[in-house]
Amino acid sequence: GLRKKEVNVLCLGLDNSGKTTIINQLKPANTPGQEVVPTIGFNIEKFKSSSLSFTVFDMSGQSRYRNLWEHYYKESHAIIFVIDSSDKLRMVVAKEELDTLLSHEDICSKKLPVLFFANKMDLHDAMSSVKVSQMLCLETIKDKPWHICASNAIEGEGLKEGVDWLQGNAR
Ligand code: GTP
Ligand code: MG
Repeated sequence: GLRKKEVNVLCLGLDNSGKTTIINQLKPANTPGQEVVPTIGFNIEKFKSSSLSFTVFDMSGQSRYRNLWEHYYKESHAIIFVIDSSDKLRMVVAKEELDTLLSHEDICSKKLPVLFFANKMDLHDAMSSVKVSQMLCLETIKDKPWHICASNAIEGEGLKEGVDWLQGNAR
């Protein structure tokens, strides 16, 4: 992919999927054990990783705030879409939101990389990343680079693999 020093990453997904927990883990100043509360509207986080300066828009996933997401599509270079792998009941809602995102005019014309975290893999009823990928029909995404990683945001597992992929693909 085309490498950029500064990348804007939009972090999306339903409420309670683990977006803020993931971003807290990625931030170098992460203080383990800090309490995470549901995001109101969105938060902007800036931090550096090995080769990139990230500006992450940590959006609220609550339904009443999901209409804010589209205002940030134009200036984003990559998307992180987080799924609660244990939330079988709302997998169809996650798919609807993903489909709406991918068909938005500011997204469908661009080859933005999309990184999926099948999060909460530590929970005993969590679906595998393969199963999550099937339920979201990710194999139908042909016009963008995408990647799915199983993650446990509490322990930080799986996050580095995802971010390494993103670093190589951010446009
Ligand atoms: P909104 O801001 O409301 O959109 O939610 P969010 O996607 O930012 O979720 P948040 O990071 O606030 O996490 C929601 C809850 O899930 C918190 O209690 C987290 O501690 C918990 N959580 C996040 N990631 C994991 C995980 O990998 N495993 C487990 N077991 N719990 C997790
Ligand atoms: Mg949040």
